[in-house]
Amino acid sequence: WPRSARREDGVLILGGMDVRDLAARFGTPLFVYDEEDVRTRAREYAAAFHDGDVHYAGKAFLCAALARWLNDEGLGLDVCSGGELAVAVAADFPREKITMHGSNKSVAELTRALDVGVGRIVVDSFEEIARLGYLAQEKGVRPKVMIRVTTGVEAHTHEFIATAHDDQKFGFSRTSGAALEAVRRVLELEQLELVGLHSHIGSQIFDTDGFEVAAHRLAELLVAIRDEHGVELPELDLGGGYGIAYLPGDEPHDPKAIADALRGIVAHECRAYGLAMPRITVEPGRAIVGPGGVTLYEVGTVKDVEGLRTYVSVDGGMSDNLRTALYGADYTGVLASRSSTAEPMLSRLVGKHCESGDIVVRDLWLPADLAAGDIVAVAATGAYCRSMASNYNFVPRPAVVAARDGQARVLVRRETDDDLLRLDAEVHG
Ligand code: LLP
Repeated sequence: WPRSARREDGVLILGGMDVRDLAARFGTPLFVYDEEDVRTRAREYAAAFHDGDVHYAGKAFLCAALARWLNDEGLGLDVCSGGELAVAVAADFPREKITMHGSNKSVAELTRALDVGVGRIVVDSFEEIARLGYLAQEKGVRPKVMIRVTTGVEAHTHEFIATAHDDQKFGFSRTSGAALEAVRRVLELEQLELVGLHSHIGSQIFDTDGFEVAAHRLAELLVAIRDEHGVELPELDLGGGYGIAYLPGDEPHDPKAIADALRGIVAHECRAYGLAMPRITVEPGRAIVGPGGVTLYEVGTVKDVEGLRTYVSVDGGMSDNLRTALYGADYTGVLASRSSTAEPMLSRLVGKHCESGDIVVRDLWLPADLAAGDIVAVAATGAYCRSMASNYNFVPRPAVVAARDGQARVLVRRETDDDLLRLDAEVHG
């Protein structure tokens, strides 16, 4: 739950706002961010590393207002598509503090990144190195480039969100020698300025060992590069992936402890090989915005499936939170609009979509007197929920609001039927 969350007579208060008022004013389902929570986490990361060395991963959630908060708090921004870059530009985010990612960037996206003048482009394939070299030469610019390396770390997380083992699509493998070959090719192209190496081992990781192994292996690569080319690359980007608490008992990382551990390993390696200490950057997404976001749903039906469980259907579902269906993710939630003394019943919180896998929370204890019209709040939905939302079943995507000091404002408005029909060529010619 966000740091501002509290209960008054059973009613959940977020950023000083009564959730019943938020639901009445903005409708449900509704994404509510506790602005102070997001800003505080951003500030804590910025303080643990150095100013400008924390690049928030926009894929977790992005809108212009959030980009401004992050800029206020001294963070940079990692974008992984032309669309995310467009949001950053619309928010007037300082261009040199943007890192352009993407595992298959199009020529149009690379062109846009060069035109915008982003601070770093992280290259992911040999084709991309060649494409970027050509485009940079055509435009007469010399972008700063990092090489994404798969360090061979088996991160302990869901298979779909682990990204540094060898058998997957990202980056250049260290073990096969592709990473060193990528370094050679970038160094051959005068129009590209190679500034460092990048690694992202996966997401929702609690165990720091994986980050430490990755940092160690990247430092070894820096040594190999110095020995082969006589250049010391000045930067290491160690990606994101820091786990957050979805359930009571989950123990998230302390940003300062992460920063100290990573710096310690790289410093040790550098001392051992006589390298200058590189600048270390990181890219947390979930850890900045995840805990500060809450989804409010209105209960529509409560169905007791005899002898099995109670199905509580809400007005959203897998179109606003795909994570349960996709990863088997766990969430927690509460009846947020009133107090109840009724017995708890083991419930399954489900959505309104035409799929039996449309589950928001698999197992949730809710009071037995739960009824249509009640509001249920689901915690820690600030990352990868709105950003992965869809229009499945032509359900409009929910609004996003920010609450702070008893005030609320819309960050992203709710979609309407008109929005849904806008792209239909038969309707709109
Ligand atoms: N940097 C890079 C290069 C990444 O690929 C990612 C996440 C991050 C940073 C940020 O990771 P974070 O700190 O947020 O864990 N949709 C999945 C997560 C996929 C993340 C992909 N890359 C989910 O809902 O859990």
